[in-house]
Amino acid sequence: MNYRACLSSLLAAGLAISSVAQTHTMTVDVASPTAEIQPTMYGVFFEDINFGADGGLYAELVKNRSFEFPQPFTGWTVLGNVTVMDESPAFDRNPHYVRVVNDGRLLRAGLDNDGFRGIGLKNGKEYRFSVYARVPNGGSAKVAIEFINSGGENPVKGEITVTGNNWEKYTVVLKSNFTDAHARLRVLLPDKGTTVDMDHISLFPVDTWKGRENGLRADLAQAINDLNPGVFRFPGGCIIEGNSLATRYQWKNSVGPVENRPLNENRWNYTFKHKAFPDYFQSLGMGFYEFFLFSEDIGAEPLPVISCGLSCQYESNEVVPLDQLQPYIQDALDLIEFANGDTTSTWGKVRAQMGHPAPFNLKMIGVGNEQWDKVYVERLELFTKAIREKYPEIKIVGSSGPEAAGEKFDYLWPEMKRVGVDLVDEHYYKEPEWFLANAARYDGYDRKGPKVFAGEYAAHDHPTGKNNNWRAALSEAAFMTGLERNADVVHMATYAPLLAHFDAWQWNPDLIWFDNMQLLRTPNYYVQQMYGMNAGDQVLPLEMDGKPVTGQDNLYATASLDNNTGEVILKLVNTGDKAADVKIDLDGLGKKQKVASGYCIYMQNDDLLTVNTLGNECIMPRTRPVNIGDDNLCLTLQPYSFGIYRLQISGRK
Ligand code: AHR
Repeated sequence: MNYRACLSSLLAAGLAISSVAQTHTMTVDVASPTAEIQPTMYGVFFEDINFGADGGLYAELVKNRSFEFPQPFTGWTVLGNVTVMDESPAFDRNPHYVRVVNDGRLLRAGLDNDGFRGIGLKNGKEYRFSVYARVPNGGSAKVAIEFINSGGENPVKGEITVTGNNWEKYTVVLKSNFTDAHARLRVLLPDKGTTVDMDHISLFPVDTWKGRENGLRADLAQAINDLNPGVFRFPGGCIIEGNSLATRYQWKNSVGPVENRPLNENRWNYTFKHKAFPDYFQSLGMGFYEFFLFSEDIGAEPLPVISCGLSCQYESNEVVPLDQLQPYIQDALDLIEFANGDTTSTWGKVRAQMGHPAPFNLKMIGVGNEQWDKVYVERLELFTKAIREKYPEIKIVGSSGPEAAGEKFDYLWPEMKRVGVDLVDEHYYKEPEWFLANAARYDGYDRKGPKVFAGEYAAHDHPTGKNNNWRAALSEAAFMTGLERNADVVHMATYAPLLAHFDAWQWNPDLIWFDNMQLLRTPNYYVQQMYGMNAGDQVLPLEMDGKPVTGQDNLYATASLDNNTGEVILKLVNTGDKAADVKIDLDGLGKKQKVASGYCIYMQNDDLLTVNTLGNECIMPRTRPVNIGDDNLCLTLQPYSFGIYRLQISGRK
């Protein structure tokens, strides 16, 4: 189809010519790929912020199950004679437990758990209750388990009988006969004169991700899986550093039997004075083993990040002296052994005992999160030397600080090159305008230095209260064309943060929002998904008027090749308020090659302030066929639209 035909087809489509901006020609050279797109290119960043792990992805429904919170009854309401004890505990690293005595003063004795802003129960679904219990004076005693609805009634009841004075695990599966986002769990002694000690009181849906006990919430795990992530970064974020060194993330505390993983303070508990969450702690129930397993499940390369011996430099700014850094370095080496070591090694054996004798094939590790100054570089150098010596095949990710530019950034990048890390983690939480203006950010980056990991980014639309609106998402889509065009230097990118509970969030915007029953995929989520599902494996040169498309007339574009399917993939973004006609010339097709068929996956909305809401994801990808001409394509890019065109080239596959 020639241009005149293009034009008449647009007119036939009823498009008012006055609403169409100038027609452009984009040329794609199909025969000359410029760079490989790494399988890790689009991934996810995970942190236990916004109740992302405890109360979120980690499917445990009971808060403070081990009574280890500083106030041991946080999350619990006590009925009758219940005391906290720690004599001859069930678990040495979580020594608290409760002694419940039905002394006859009330009809029953026990306690209720509130869950994480309530316990979400669904009618017809099964839940696995478990408890470690003993009868201190021997003999046996009944324990009743009840699900309490928001009205205070107990329509679901179960029972276990505890026998003997040794700690034993008791389990019962109960089916809920009601749906309630704010249910409670009640555990009590129905019989007068009985006493039972209880610890690690737990309730999980039976239907976790892949049906695993101590598993992940299935809908959230599935939504993450559906992003098709190439890399999974864990455990954050600032949580790695801790507000103090004592509360940094210590991976060794997060493996082994879940009951004996010591509680950690969550730094998002009190980071923001205007948004305090005194009941936010880390059970570490979703720890490093679960992280590696989930990464494997979803086909993402695991990227663990560890403390470099600096606590949050914004907050307490504690520094481990260089001559005392060895245990921190050893933690990094041991983590690699935990992931990859054979089953006779100390940490490989722990992994095998947890159920995964095969290595996890860890390929990279991050040292430090948002660190800066000489104090960081000195420590990074020691980590790098030790890791290179023992594990030369492991790639190391260093930090460029908390900002995308400025003094810290300008100091750190040359230092990262000098130290010789493999990738540099960049963070930018900026206005949508910044994202639009920075689509060419990586065009001038040094091709010989470390590669870029855009490890935390999100468009923050401040005037709207930092909504996950279409303006933010569209600006990210536009910016990401620049990541992909520069895939020779940008090897990984992860939006942040990933998860947020509607009733318990500290930070916005976020990719996926959820409550105790359901989740909401934001427009930003779908942008990530569209990229993640349609990356291709080689970048193709795409030019408009002889230049890359980085915002001219509000257009942004990138092209790639999917060698598996033989498709050319175009990603085209129009951030303007007018439709744009674009003629695509595909150069370099062989004599017998042509575009045989094609379809477009797109998102569009005329109102940049539109957000998705629970039950109404109005901005989501849709698919339509593409009309194919003989050797070129004429496309109309709607105002405020992001489209991915998958064009099947005949004779390539
Ligand atoms: O993503 C939220 C926080 O932003 C991360 O924990 C931190 O690295 C950054 O400041």
